[in-house]
Amino acid sequence: MRPWTFPVALQTGPEAGTRHPLFQQIAQAIRGDVRRGRLRPGDALPGSRSLAQTLGVHRNTVLAAYRELEAEGWTASAQRTTRVASDLPETPARKARREQGPGFDLELPGSALARPGLRETPPHLLLFGGGLPDLRLVPTDLLARAYRRALQAPSLLGYGDTRGEPRLRTALARLLSEMRGLAVTAEQVLVTSGSQGALDLVARNLLKPGDRVAVEDPGYPAAWATLQASGAALLPLPVDGAGLQVEPLEAALEEGPVRAVYLTPHHQFPTTVTMSAARRLRLLDLARRHRIAILEDDYDNEFHFEGRPVLPLASEDPGGVVIYLGTLSKILAPGLRLGFMAGPQPLIEALGARRAASEGQGDHAIQRMAAELLEEGLLQRHARKMRRIYLARRGALASALSEHLHGAVRFEVPPGGMSLWLQVDLQIDVDRWAQRAEKEGVAIYTGRRFDFLGRPRPNLRLGFSSLNEQELDRAVRRLARALPGR
Ligand SMILES: Cc1ncc(COP(=O)(O)O)c(C=O)c1O
Repeated sequence: MRPWTFPVALQTGPEAGTRHPLFQQIAQAIRGDVRRGRLRPGDALPGSRSLAQTLGVHRNTVLAAYRELEAEGWTASAQRTTRVASDLPETPARKARREQGPGFDLELPGSALARPGLRETPPHLLLFGGGLPDLRLVPTDLLARAYRRALQAPSLLGYGDTRGEPRLRTALARLLSEMRGLAVTAEQVLVTSGSQGALDLVARNLLKPGDRVAVEDPGYPAAWATLQASGAALLPLPVDGAGLQVEPLEAALEEGPVRAVYLTPHHQFPTTVTMSAARRLRLLDLARRHRIAILEDDYDNEFHFEGRPVLPLASEDPGGVVIYLGTLSKILAPGLRLGFMAGPQPLIEALGARRAASEGQGDHAIQRMAAELLEEGLLQRHARKMRRIYLARRGALASALSEHLHGAVRFEVPPGGMSLWLQVDLQIDVDRWAQRAEKEGVAIYTGRRFDFLGRPRPNLRLGFSSLNEQELDRAVRRLARALPGR
């Protein structure tokens, strides 16, 4: 924070005699700053010598002002420092500013589902989370070296291609074709601020108010909020053990067109199930025939533990209906905001152009950093290392649950993903359990959070990637202690 600076010019010179004496002007200015909140309770005032020098007055003048302020209770001095008194009541000016609403209409269309950003987790709380990476294991030295190099390339500090930094687009296209079966070139890739940024760009530019967009229920509320902000009318479709059910979509198409389907076919969010091959083919066929855009969110592709990852819908898309959304949030860190989309080239070009009208281009230096890590295979190596670690954590969570919560929860260990989806015994009030758990020092997400209408569901989604094996065991013991009586 910048140090406090004296707010006004003192009135000196020939007519100064008609004004307040200098020491009073000084005291007055300081009082005013306390009232306005520029100076807060406990803030130190400058030393008298230094303030006198700044103002070009005698030190005794400043001392006289400080004495007056102290006598009135505005300040207190201790250990040769004068501070704003710590017990001052909140001044009306500051209170008014804090409580004042905007002087315009604050009506956010379609924001009903939006939720506030995450708050900081108190240190004592073990947070299962929805499948965050362990931020303690981010290879920060590698990132710092590559970022430093990127910052030294002057071209990256200027305006650039609104589709994203070219080398990253090339590296991602290569990754997508080598690892995920998408035959794409850099021209078909657009780098965004997280995959949320990609979804937002698609939603704002492709959807018109009232367009029907199908989503999974239970599903990913952050995506719903983005789609709704563009005025889309969401159509929740049920999910079962084989992923999104396609039949209800067919039924909905009889009532009118559906513009897009947003889904997470690889590791369905939140249930972790993988969409069956039959449903994939049926969905692709339906989309091609009805000209529906498929928004495929493949957010944690790398974390597949049994066998090879299932190839994305986008890898078998001759009709060009799939817009593939990807992210580095799970391999690296969500705070870096590195995401991307891949799709038909005319779409990427059009969205690149539209993007100039919003955030522009994103951070090309960070994007170059990611490009270098991909080109050198360092990111892929890091992902392999994390996969081993998360696999062990998945095992640790599953055994802790079997040991401490036997009978209260049932689950299948999914072949991939960073979370387990638990069925909770119907006798247990799962939301009450979550409240009690928080008091025991563990935070969990219950099924209600992922239900389209916010109805209670007898489920828990426990992310295992951000806690180590000991923490997972401790967290499950706390959960067991918090179990409400049945
Ligand atoms: C379903 C789903 N999609 C996407 C993301 C990643 O979002 P982003 O790339 O914006 O960080 C997440 C992260 O939690 C997610 O759970």
